[in-house]
This record gives sequence, structure tokens and C-alpha cells, in this order.
Amino acid sequence: MIEAGKFAAALKLAALLSMLGVPAALAQSANVENGADVFKKCRACHLVGDTAKHAVGPALNNVIGRKAGAADGYTYSDNMRELGQSGLVWSENELSRYLENPKAVAPRGKMAFPGIADAQDRADLIAFLKTFSKP
Ligand code: HEC
Repeated sequence: MIEAGKFAAALKLAALLSMLGVPAALAQSANVENGADVFKKCRACHLVGDTAKHAVGPALNNVIGRKAGAADGYTYSDNMRELGQSGLVWSENELSRYLENPKAVAPRGKMAFPGIADAQDRADLIAFLKTFSKP
């Protein structure tokens, strides 16, 4: 009887969550607010937003979906320019791969950043950058 009671309670909870529109995979979904927090690691070198200019690194508005090494007015490493010329585009996947370990993607690139090991942090960061990219 106790087990049946627990089961009924679990069913009620599941029904309540679905009523509230909470997806089952909530823990997996990206969190833009955390992404903004993770972006603090990038701010020393990158800017985003209406007034963003190139700094140590290129401004990151509209970076998602853009060819690598292709922001106007920024001087990239030869390595990054060549990656773009040979077809690298910053899809969310490629961006995640680069941000995990920049030197693995661009061994002779000039981004002096060790990378972000946590996949959820990378996903959140990319969701944050997406808010500065045209759909
Ligand atoms: C110490 C400075 C520094 C930090 C910190 C840094 N970057 Fe960079 N980033 C650069 C430089 C310099 C480049 C240009 C790389 C090249 O030309 O090889 C670059 C390039 C990039 C590119 C490629 C842009 C393009 O137009 O192809 C992306 C995307 C990027 N950085 C994202 C990030 C993100 C996100 C973070 C934070 C997690 C970050 N970077 C942290 C300096 C930095």
C-alpha cells in the first residue's frame, strides 16, 4: 500500500510538472544566465553588444554561423584565416569543440585561452552568444 501511494504521488508530480510546461530534459537545456556568467572568462579579450569593438580578440556579435577568421577589420592568425578558407564555420558544434580546447582546433592560433572543460558551461555560453547573433 505504501508503494502504491508513492507511485500515485510520483504520477501527480509528473502531471504537475508537465502542466507547468517543464520539459523532462530541463537539466540538459541551456541556461543563458549561466552563459553570461561564463562569458566573464572571455571579456578580457572579447566584447559583445551594440557598442562592441574588436579588442585582443574579435568582437563576437553574429559569430554563430559565421566563417572562422572572417570578422571585418580584425587581424587573425594565419592559422585561423586558413581554417575559415578551408571551410570551418562556427556552428554550435564547432564552436563548442574550439571552446573546449582552442589549441586542438587552431594549434597555431593566437587565442591564449586554455578552454572550458564543462560541456554544460560551453552550451550555456553558446546560448548566451546566440542572443548576440542574428537567427
Ligand atoms: C586572452 C585573450 C582571449 C580570451 C580570454 C578568449 N579569447 Fe577568443 N580569441 C582571442 C584571440 C586573440 C582570437 C583570434 C584567434 C586567431 O586569430 O587565431 C580569438 C578568437 C576567438 C574566436 C574565433 C572568432 C572568429 O571570428 O573566427 C571565438 C569564437 C572566440 N575567440 C571565442 C572566445 C570565447 C567564447 C572565450 C571565452 C570562453 C574566449 N574566446 C576567450 C583571444 C581570447
